[in-house]
Amino acid sequence: MCGIVGYIGSQQAAGIILDGLARLEYRGYDSAGMAICDGEKIRISKSVGRLKVLEELTHNGETMPGCCGIGHTRWATHGEPNTTNAHPHYNTDETIAIVHNGIIENYLALKEMLTKKGYQFQTDTDTEVVAQLLDYYYDGDPMMAITRMLHRVQGSYALGILFAQHPDRLFAVRKNSPLIVGKSPNGYLIASDVPAILKYTRNVFYVDNQEIAVLKQDQLNFYNIDGDEIEKEEVTIEWDANAAEKGGYEHFMLKEMYEQPKTVTDTLLPRIKDGDIVIDELNMTDDELAAVKKIHIVACGSAYHAGVTGKYVIEGMARVPVEVDLASEFRYRNPILEEGAMVVVISQSGETADTLAALRESKERGFKVLAVVNVVGSSIAREADSVLYTWAGPEIAVATTKAYSAQLIAMYLLAMKLAKVRGKIDDVELSAMIEDLKCIPSQIEMLLGNEKRIQRFANRYVGAKDIFFIGRGIDYSIALEGSLKLKEISYVHSEAYAAGELKHGTISLIEEGTLVTAIATQPELYPKTVSNIVQVKARGAFVLAVTTEGNDDIEKNADYVIYIPQTNPYFMNSLAIIPLQMFGYYVSVGKGFDADHPRNLAKSVTVE
Ligand code: G6P
Repeated sequence: MCGIVGYIGSQQAAGIILDGLARLEYRGYDSAGMAICDGEKIRISKSVGRLKVLEELTHNGETMPGCCGIGHTRWATHGEPNTTNAHPHYNTDETIAIVHNGIIENYLALKEMLTKKGYQFQTDTDTEVVAQLLDYYYDGDPMMAITRMLHRVQGSYALGILFAQHPDRLFAVRKNSPLIVGKSPNGYLIASDVPAILKYTRNVFYVDNQEIAVLKQDQLNFYNIDGDEIEKEEVTIEWDANAAEKGGYEHFMLKEMYEQPKTVTDTLLPRIKDGDIVIDELNMTDDELAAVKKIHIVACGSAYHAGVTGKYVIEGMARVPVEVDLASEFRYRNPILEEGAMVVVISQSGETADTLAALRESKERGFKVLAVVNVVGSSIAREADSVLYTWAGPEIAVATTKAYSAQLIAMYLLAMKLAKVRGKIDDVELSAMIEDLKCIPSQIEMLLGNEKRIQRFANRYVGAKDIFFIGRGIDYSIALEGSLKLKEISYVHSEAYAAGELKHGTISLIEEGTLVTAIATQPELYPKTVSNIVQVKARGAFVLAVTTEGNDDIEKNADYVIYIPQTNPYFMNSLAIIPLQMFGYYVSVGKGFDADHPRNLAKSVTVE
């Protein structure tokens, strides 16, 4: 989704802004632009397409001198992706420039009001209305204009604002859209996301809703919506700056797949103490946990798929009923949350608008929310009652891999903890599970070693039109994620089906040569899934089977088999997903696509 970077300091701003925007490319965008103040005037350059077009247009920023500026990568919401609609936007006399993430919900009413007062609009965006509204309220005092503007606009926003008459200042404000301020030795920065400024600093301030940051070359102040100065705590980002670099890999996605053993270890080990699962972050006593009557898991995309796995594992292991909802459905379906229910939201970014709304909805109804989040200090992390962090580090590729793997671990830990306090597993069973979990990183490592074999197989399917994924139980949840990985980066139509559901319609789609990926890792369901393989084979399918070592008999029916090592069946997803991620990645590469930047998709979806 849209990205914001801004800088004011002793250096030239344009280069720093372009560099920061490049680090936000992963969020997804269709146009880019920047506004630089040279001390007198604000100059704007914008372009459609990749950031390199803007780099060429500005000779890597050299044609835009000045030590104060704001930049933006736009993911169109209001108005098509063209140069006019790209940010930054000016007021009429080009003395105010702004960049904006989010949506101004009452922009039409504001536009009408301003039009009546003689304002004219050049773009189709909601953002231009904010620039003109600031102009309307501006009488020489930028803070006054900003606070008055904040009282009028509704919706979500992170804004970077320049006033030509105040070239020594950069203003930033936000509501329900992320924004941080960074403090570097050479000046101050703003950004919508941490990786944009990691190269320059790890010392940041999280701007809260409707707080205003005023950045000068060597001074930083924060104010509330009434214009009163407030104190903010400086936070150190622990992420290693190298973590947001490709480090020799062709794509971030490939690098992040290879980081999964570490991600799993980092998420798992801090929660294992003296042979027990210790999740202090839950802020719940064992008795409180044991009393949980129902769990509602709410998330979007791959995080939702981790939640589906969580349902199977928690229900199976701890015998607590679990409902899993897509956040965009949950928030509008008036869900029934009963006494004793616990809400768990899962989100890599911690900024997904629907998930955040679901969290708020649950809290408003008086329910405690546990967030499984990757980005420290994100909105969801800050608003949840307790946070179970997935220690995956920065994830840059749009298609999630390592954060998803960490989310699975969080689900297992929660399930094991619940099972233990509810007396559903004893110490011996728990120890065996912990031992199995500790082996997962090296088993993932081993599966990653199959890269070349999977690449060769994927190359055979770069021309495929439809690919189906089937499985039962936990294998179905793996199928969901395997299918999403493939379709989101390779643009091959793909569907995941509960294998038992095939005969109720889907099987009619199977033609001679259609690739069906059958996941059969669950011992109890294995014979049933094999029957489904036989059924699709009979209709001409080519079957890729993913099963556990020892199930050699599957070769009688499947055309190609990927074996995964044995582990506790509840944890199979962590292993089976590896070849499926790799398959999706190599189909995308084989088709010549940029796996890190799939068309139309954004890493962090901060609008509805
Ligand atoms: C986007 C991303 C997905 C992600 C989903 C949920 O669609 O492209 O990879 O799974 O959002 O994001 P979250 O940050 O809440 O996990």
